[in-house]
Amino acid sequence: SKRPTQRFVCQSCGAVTPKWSGKCDACGEWNTIVEEAVEPTAAASRRRATKTGISLEGLTGSASPPPRRATGIDELDRVLGGGLVAASVVLVGGDPGIGKSTLLLQTACRLALGGQRVVYISGEEAIDQIRMRAQRLELEAPALQLAASINVSDIVSTLENESDVALVVIDSIQTMWLDTVDSAPGSVAQVRACSFELIRLAKKRGFSLVLVGHVTKDGALAGPRVMEHMVDAVMYFEGDRGHQFRILRAAKNRFGATDEIGVFAMTDRGLVEVPNPSALFLAERRGNIAGSAVFAGLEGTRPVLLEVQALLSPKAGDNAPRRAVIGWDTGRLAMLLAVLETRCGLKLSTMDVYLNFAGGLRVTEPAADLAVAAALISAATGQPTSAGSVYFGEVGLSGEIRQVPQADARLKEAQKLGFELAVLPRRVARATSARVRPPAGLTLNELGHLSDLV
Ligand code: TYD
Ligand code: MG
Repeated sequence: SKRPTQRFVCQSCGAVTPKWSGKCDACGEWNTIVEEAVEPTAAASRRRATKTGISLEGLTGSASPPPRRATGIDELDRVLGGGLVAASVVLVGGDPGIGKSTLLLQTACRLALGGQRVVYISGEEAIDQIRMRAQRLELEAPALQLAASINVSDIVSTLENESDVALVVIDSIQTMWLDTVDSAPGSVAQVRACSFELIRLAKKRGFSLVLVGHVTKDGALAGPRVMEHMVDAVMYFEGDRGHQFRILRAAKNRFGATDEIGVFAMTDRGLVEVPNPSALFLAERRGNIAGSAVFAGLEGTRPVLLEVQALLSPKAGDNAPRRAVIGWDTGRLAMLLAVLETRCGLKLSTMDVYLNFAGGLRVTEPAADLAVAAALISAATGQPTSAGSVYFGEVGLSGEIRQVPQADARLKEAQKLGFELAVLPRRVARATSARVRPPAGLTLNELGHLSDLV
C-alpha cells in the first residue's frame, strides 16, 4: 500500500493524527496541530542494511558507575547527580528570559577554565553578543569555543572528527534546522530530527550534550515535552522573572535522583549559587504579622525553610469563596479548610482565601499541611505565630497530625537559622521509634491533633 506523505502533528505534545482539527485530543491544546511532511526513512533503511546482530548478556556481571565530570557549580552538580555524565544528553528547559543561556555560558566557561574542551553553539545569538555577555559577567575562559549556527548538518560534520570534546551546548534546540526535514525550525519534526542527530553524535563521540529548550504556553514552538523520552535527563529552570530566585529541578534523570533542586539568584553579575536557600527565602520575612508561618521543608535531601502566607477576607455576596494559591496544591488547601472547619470549628467557608509560598518555590510535600494550617489559623484569629517557630507535619482527614520523613534534618536546619520552637507531629510509639532529640536551643511542641494548634 502507498504510504501517506502528509500527517498532522500537535506542536505542543507531539501527538500524530491523520487529519487536522482545532483542538488536540491528546493534550487538549487549541490551534497547535499543523500539517507536516512524513520524515524520510533513511534511518529505517540503514537499519535494514546491517546484519550484525546483538549480543545477549547475563544479569550478573561487573557494572561500574558512569564516569562523571563535575562542572564545579555545586547547585548544578547536585541536580545532575554529581556532574555531567560522558556521552549523555541533558535537556534544560524553561521560559524564555529565565536565564538558561546565562547558566550554560557560566557552566561552559567553568569547565573550559578547568582545562576541558567545551563548545558552545548558539542559534539565537551572534558570537559578538555571546562575547559581550561573557564580558559583562566577567567570565574568562579563552579556551571556550563558540559558534553561531543553526545548521545541524554543519555542526555534525564539524564535531564528527573531534575526539577530545567534553561538553557541547546547543542553545536552543528550537532554532536548529536539518536540511533533510521539510518543515520550519521549532516544529516537532525539526526538533525531533535535530535532537536525534545531535544525540547520536554525542553517544558516538562520547561528549556530554546539553540541549536548551524553550517552554512556551502558546504551542507555537515544539515543547521540550516531545524530546523528554529521547534524552537522559530533563531539567527545568524555573522562577518568577520578577523575583531573583531561580530553581533548577530535575524532572527525569537516568543517572541520579529527581528530587534535588539547585538554587540560584539572578544578579547583575549573572547567576550566583545559593548554598543556603533558607536564609534567602526567609530574608524578606517580617515578624509579628498575622497569617504567616515558617515551614521546615525538604527539597530532595536538603532541608529548606520557607514562609507561607495566608490572607482571609469576607467573600463577596453570594459568590463562591475564592481560593487563590501560589506555590501549593489547590485541592490540598480545600481539604485543609474542610478539616479546619469540621474538626476544629474554624469557620472559613464564608471567606476568600489567598495562600502564597514566598520565594517562588512550589511545595509538594504533605508535610507542609501543618504550616499552612498555622498560617490560616493565624490569619483567622489575627494572632501572629511566634516569630521564632517553624512548623511541619501532615494533616489527616480527621484532623490527626501525622509523621513525616526526616524530622531531624528539618530541626537541624531550623536551629541553624536561629529558630527556637518547632511544632511537629507527636511520636506515636516512643518505645519503637527513637525519640526526636532536639538540637540545643530548640524547644519541641509535639501535637497529636490539629485542634491542639487552634
Ligand atoms: P538569558 O540567560 O538570556 O535567558 P534565556 O536563555 O533563558 O532566554 O537571561 C535573560 C535575562 O536575565 C535577561 O532578561 C536579563 C537577565 N540577566 C541578568 O539579570 N543578569 C545578567 O547578568 C544576565 C546575563 C542576564
Ligand atoms: Mg537564551
